[in-house]
Amino acid sequence: MRSQRRSAKGPRAIVSASILGCDLGRVVDEARSAVEAGAEAIHADVMDGHFVPNISFGPNLIGRVVAAVEARVTTHLMVDRPERLLDVFLDTGADRILVHPEATPHIRRALDTIREGGASAGIALNPGTPLCFAEVLLPHVDEVLVMTVNPGWGGQQMMVEQLDKVREMRRRIDAGDLAAFDISVDGGIAPNTAGAVREAGANVLVAGTALFGALDRAEAIREMLE
Ligand code: DX5
Ligand code: ZN
Repeated sequence: MRSQRRSAKGPRAIVSASILGCDLGRVVDEARSAVEAGAEAIHADVMDGHFVPNISFGPNLIGRVVAAVEARVTTHLMVDRPERLLDVFLDTGADRILVHPEATPHIRRALDTIREGGASAGIALNPGTPLCFAEVLLPHVDEVLVMTVNPGWGGQQMMVEQLDKVREMRRRIDAGDLAAFDISVDGGIAPNTAGAVREAGANVLVAGTALFGALDRAEAIREMLE
């Protein structure tokens, strides 16, 4: 992700387009369309049918998207034991890989492997996971993604109480207690929820349904950032 530019209103926010919400049969065109509309990153949700009760897509599709767009691509691995799969996902050329600490006893090794493979590394937290579960990881991440829905499907409603985790991290970064990293939110982000999300201090807004389902994608992105 682009580094944070601070303003009086807090960090500059961007929209990251979640291709789970697009027409996957036309994923390359859809990703390009999102970037043309103003999305500054692409978000790719990988589901394995174990860690989450659904299966989405894998490295082949992500590699196609990486090759087709200029924007940065983040892969969000919603899979058990992500360390088994890091090599194939690093090979896609994605800029960043996010792993769930709930999915492996070796999360530090996974983060190190991602960096050694040339990508930046972050973690994602399920709604049932408190921030303190990831406490020792916070000095070692480029991004913390707060799941604002139970992972598995797009098109769900945002859980507003999850924003407490965002507020807590932003407060500690602002206080200088933590080095800055990207704070992202994933699930139910739309024009009507984005204001609260930005106010809480998130600087990466992952949006699937609200972006790809919009009649005017550029307008949807503008509304999320206004
Ligand atoms: C849930 C997914 C979704 C998706 C975003 O497992 O991670 O959160 O990316 O989808 P929308 O924007 O449709 O909630
Ligand atoms: Zn995601």
